[in-house]
Amino acid sequence: MNPLAQNLNQQLEQSNPQVLAMLSNLGRNMFYPKGILSQSAEAKSTKFNATIGMATNKDGKMFAPSLDNMFNDLTPDEIFPYAPPQGVEELRDLWQQKMLKDNPELTKEHITRPIVTNALTHGLSLVGDLFVDSNDTILLPEHNWGNYKLVFDTRNGAQIDTYPIFDEQGHYTTSALVETLEHYNKDKVIMLLNYPNNPTGYTPTANEVETIVTAIKTLADNGTKVIAVVDDAYYGLFYEDVYRQSLFTALTQLNSQNILPVRLDGATKEFFAWGFRVGFMTFGTSDQTTKDVLEAKVKGLIRSNISSGPLPTQSAVKHVLKHHEQFDKEIAKNIETLQQRYDVTKEVVYNAKYNKYWQAYDFNSGYFMAIKVLGVDPEDLRKHLIEHYSIGVIALNATDIRIAFSCVEKEDIPHVFDSIAKAIDDLKA
Ligand SMILES: Cc1ncc(COP(=O)(O)O)c(C=O)c1O
Repeated sequence: MNPLAQNLNQQLEQSNPQVLAMLSNLGRNMFYPKGILSQSAEAKSTKFNATIGMATNKDGKMFAPSLDNMFNDLTPDEIFPYAPPQGVEELRDLWQQKMLKDNPELTKEHITRPIVTNALTHGLSLVGDLFVDSNDTILLPEHNWGNYKLVFDTRNGAQIDTYPIFDEQGHYTTSALVETLEHYNKDKVIMLLNYPNNPTGYTPTANEVETIVTAIKTLADNGTKVIAVVDDAYYGLFYEDVYRQSLFTALTQLNSQNILPVRLDGATKEFFAWGFRVGFMTFGTSDQTTKDVLEAKVKGLIRSNISSGPLPTQSAVKHVLKHHEQFDKEIAKNIETLQQRYDVTKEVVYNAKYNKYWQAYDFNSGYFMAIKVLGVDPEDLRKHLIEHYSIGVIALNATDIRIAFSCVEKEDIPHVFDSIAKAIDDLKA
C-alpha cells in the first residue's frame, strides 16, 4: 500500500475507525498523490512556472477566440484552464451556502465542503469506488432508478436487497423498511435513499422522515455500519406539504458514529442543466480529520479516473449562484410549470372512470408518476402506445409504467391518460 494511503488510514483509525471500516479495498488503497498537481500548486507564485500541462502567454492562458465567443459572461480564465479535481473552490463554497439556505436544520460543522462531481451518476460511482466491495450489500426500495443496478451490481459486484415502499393500494409506507432494518444482521450496509423518488415521484412527509431516520439509527445502534447515500437528483421539485429539507439533513442530526450520510445533488435537474455534468458530493461528519481524509481519497479517485470535471459548466453554475436574482425567478417559473402539470396529472389519474385500468402510486414531487396497469403487460402496452397512439412511456417491471409529466404540456396530459386507457382496452379485446 502506498505510504500516503497508509498515512490517511492511520489518521482515520485514530479519529474515526468506524468510517475506516466502511471503506472498500479501493477506498483503503486510495490517496491523493503528491504528483504534478501538488508540485504545480507549490509553484503557483513563481515567475517562470514551467510545471503546468497547459499553454500560456504573457496575457494568461492561450485560447482560440472562436471558442471564447461561445461564453458571453465568462472570462477566458473561467473557461479554458483545468478545473481542480475537487472542483472550482468558489463553486464549492457557493453550493454549500445554497445547501445551508435550503436546509435550515443543517449546520456547516456537520458537513464537508461539497466536492464537485461529473454530475450525480459520477457521484454514485465514486460511492461505489470508495465504499463498495464485491458482495457488500446495497439496500434499495423496490421502486428505484435502474442505473443503480449497473453502478453497484455490474461495476462493483454488490449484492442488491430491496424492500417495498408502497402497500397493496399503492400508498407509500415505511413499514417494510422499518421491519427490514429491525432484523438486519450485517456488519455494513450501503443504503440508497432517493426522494423525490425515481420512478414514482414520491417524497416522504416530515413524520415519515422521522420514522425512516429512527429506523436507520436503530440499525446503527445494533452495530451495523451504515453508509446512507442520499440521491437528491430531484431536490426542490416539491408540489405538496412534504419534508422539504434533504433526508441528508435529518441523517446528520442523528450524530451516530456508525452512520455516514453522503449527499449527492447537483445542477442536473435542479437547475434544468442536464448536459452540464455538474454535481456535488457531501459527507455528513463533524470530525475534521475525517473530512480531510475523505476529501483526499475522493480527489484521488477523481484524479485517477476523469482527472477533473469541465470548467466552463462549473463556471456557469458558479455565475448563476453568485448573480442569482434573475436566475432564481427563472427556475421558480419552470417549477411552477411542473407544478401545474402535476396538478392536472393528479386530477386526471385519480378519475374514477380509470379505476378499472390502473392504480396510481402515491406521488407529490419530481418529474414522474407511476401506475400499476391492470390486466395487460406493461411492455406490450408501451409498444402499443408508441405504435398506435404515438405516446412514449417507460415499462418498469411486470406491472408498472412510468409517465414523465415533466415532458408533457399540461393541455396534453388528459389525452395521454385517455390514450393509455384506450390502449389497455385494445390489448384486452
Ligand atoms: C434518481 C436519479 N439519480 C441520479 C440521476 C443521474 O443524474 P445525472 O444526470 O446528474 O448523472 C438520475 C437521472 O435520471 C436519477 O433519476
